[in-house]
Amino acid sequence: MKLEMKTGGHAAPPPAETVGPRRSESSKAARVAEVIGDLPPMPHIAAQVIEKLSDENSTPKQIHQIIMQDQALAGRVLKVANSPYYGASRSISTVRDALMFMGFDAIRSLIMTAVLKGMSINVGLAEKLLWEHAVGCGLAARKIGEEVGFARKEEAYLAGLMHDFGKTALFLRAPSVMRDIMQEVYNDGMDFFDVEQRKLGFTHADVGGIIADNWRFSKDIEYAIADHHQPVEPGATGELTQIISLANSICHKLGVGPTRKPDLDLNGTQTAKMLGLSPASIEKILLAVSQAIEER
Ligand SMILES: [Fe+2]
Ligand SMILES: [Fe+2]
Repeated sequence: MKLEMKTGGHAAPPPAETVGPRRSESSKAARVAEVIGDLPPMPHIAAQVIEKLSDENSTPKQIHQIIMQDQALAGRVLKVANSPYYGASRSISTVRDALMFMGFDAIRSLIMTAVLKGMSINVGLAEKLLWEHAVGCGLAARKIGEEVGFARKEEAYLAGLMHDFGKTALFLRAPSVMRDIMQEVYNDGMDFFDVEQRKLGFTHADVGGIIADNWRFSKDIEYAIADHHQPVEPGATGELTQIISLANSICHKLGVGPTRKPDLDLNGTQTAKMLGLSPASIEKILLAVSQAIEER
């Protein structure tokens, strides 16, 4: 199945199951713009690749030509493709091989992973933890997707990968504000989301949702990112939102990233219940994710 991603013109109306009241109204976007200015655009070459991947008439050769214009991106694509953490099933020695052996949906995930990795390199100390958390969540979301029969597995990976990208954007655009927030989070054991809400009037989830919209990701991905901390509130009823929220909790439980909650009862979470996951299924997902993380 083709990953839904808008490639031009105005956004198509979201599918019926995702229509509902939204929290990230335009006033929130205005407040975000006021505090942190312009949000990061998708890098130019990456945008070209993504657009080509959405065109059914594109050939691997055309996509290869675009990627090779950006040697740094090409290098990261190869590195990511061969990282066990990313979860590719075979070793990839050239970008051409990656394009030959992977489907377009998987290539899109790979390119986005390489793009976000490139954008995350200047966020300082928190960078490594945030990056591990992003990839861990992508992986967990893909596994949950397999377990619940969610057909768009690469979309689940991509939403998991990007769910906290708002934090990276905040680090890049408003580093001193973020340092204050981090300090409160770590010194007082507060939740990021709550401190952001109080200090800024919006959260990294709002910022991530706006970026997903700017980058023309599908509405399902945008909502999953924007609502990953409030997956069961009215308006946040999409299955992908629940998958991402649970993937996030799984990473917290396993200590993948800055937040560690080893005592978290995953079977007691609303999302596990709403997704209909049994304790055995949760155990299976936890095992698969922790194995992938150990291999990295
Ligand atoms: Fe988050
Ligand atoms: Fe997260």
